[in-house]
Amino acid sequence: MESELAWNPFKRKTPAKSARAEAAQTAVVKPLIREAHRRGPEPGGLPRFNTTASDQMSGRGDRFSAVRAKLRHAFTPSQPVADRRLFAGRDDVLKTIIRSIEDQRLHVVLYGERGIGKTSLMHVLTQAATEARYIVVYTSCGANSNFDETFRAAAAEIPLLFHSGFSPTTAEAEKGSSLADLLPNEPLTPRKFGDLCARLTGTRVLIILDEFDRAESASFRRDIAEVIKNLSDRLGRVQLVLAGVAADLTELVEHIPSIRRNIFALRVPKMTEAEVLQIVANGEREADLKFDTQASAFVVEVARGSPYIANLICHHAGHAALDAGRSTVLPSDVASAVDRTILEFQGRIASPAQAHVRRLFEQGRQDALAMTSRAALAADGVFDASDIETTNHISARKAQDAIEVLANERLLKSMPGESEPRYAFVEEGLPTLIWMIWAQRNLNREAAVPRAATGS
Ligand SMILES: Nc1ncnc2c1ncn2[C@@H]1O[C@H](COP(=O)(O)OP(=O)(O)OP(=O)(O)O)[C@@H](O)[C@H]1O
Ligand SMILES: [Mg+2]
Repeated sequence: MESELAWNPFKRKTPAKSARAEAAQTAVVKPLIREAHRRGPEPGGLPRFNTTASDQMSGRGDRFSAVRAKLRHAFTPSQPVADRRLFAGRDDVLKTIIRSIEDQRLHVVLYGERGIGKTSLMHVLTQAATEARYIVVYTSCGANSNFDETFRAAAAEIPLLFHSGFSPTTAEAEKGSSLADLLPNEPLTPRKFGDLCARLTGTRVLIILDEFDRAESASFRRDIAEVIKNLSDRLGRVQLVLAGVAADLTELVEHIPSIRRNIFALRVPKMTEAEVLQIVANGEREADLKFDTQASAFVVEVARGSPYIANLICHHAGHAALDAGRSTVLPSDVASAVDRTILEFQGRIASPAQAHVRRLFEQGRQDALAMTSRAALAADGVFDASDIETTNHISARKAQDAIEVLANERLLKSMPGESEPRYAFVEEGLPTLIWMIWAQRNLNREAAVPRAATGS
């Protein structure tokens, strides 16, 4: 415990200040701000952008400026992967999706936790289908998505020459008209859209509705179920791919239970170790950086199968190495990246919950916290005692104890409607934050070996 406290950067970097010291510091800072205003910014004094908006180097950077610029594209924690060279793993998932579209002519529902890689998969699927000459319409749903707007836009992407009523040489087809030109002025219905699609020939269309969970309208969901039914019954050449979170499939199927047969639902799993290592390797290649073996192992340990965390940690670790004047990333850089990541996560979680978690760490309850958060991360947030048991290789008794500790602290809520009691953390981001704090305290910064591993 003692070494943990010495190791904790929050303790080191933010010593407690007395109110008097703070007031004295404010008194010094204020005149400085006034002075700076009078003089204007000092040349070279303030942080500047290193690259211009057109991605050109500004010429003011250090010797690693070029590597820094490449690093931005190599690890993209805030964006889905659009570039195939940076897309790691997922061969099986992609193969399964393609087979269900191609061989079984099913509509696909892809679900999985936030940041697991659904949109990135949709981008790669789009590329693969476009190569096979499918017409692919990609739509990212929003809170206000409605059927009329979404499917009119989709119809506008389908050239009229594929409508069996128009030969490619008719004037309309030649002048680049689309199916949207055949739509009535009144609001588009699933039936009308299905009718139109039934007339398509000589092509296949994939309509991808990403971020489906963001659409709030119940009637939009009902219309989607309706259109899936309609397209399936009429052997249409149009297939839907929906990407969102798990609950939406249930809700979708509730409307028309029989569409279950027409849908292939797939949960995007956590990444394997090899897949996370591929993220690291892709980034190394792209940015001309090298992660030493221990540093890569550290990334794998911390990411726990999340491509988002892997990208975030690699991004920060790469910058930490460059800041230290190295183009080789060491375990200590990954440790700094964990510190940065914790700071970022803190901004996203309510402060009382954070303070509560930190207090439990200080009180030596880290085993219960770590084991439960591991199970939550492995099970998409909702878990039971047996998940804790298997993820941590511990006894059923110990797993139950861990649940009791955190339930008593009101950090867990029980999930309704299950025969076996199931739980989730009271805030979605808590398992990741807890896991990061555990890693920060327990993974050796120099060698990335668990120092006081709980149950792993
Ligand atoms: N196969 C992959 N290879 C490399 N990086 C990936 C891969 N899949 C996802 N990522 C990275 O993981 C992060 C999350 O990816 P993405 O946005 O695709 O997830 P998502 O499931 O669509 O998230 P959300 O639920 O928020 O919509 C991004 O930083 C992305 O770059
Ligand atoms: Mg997404």
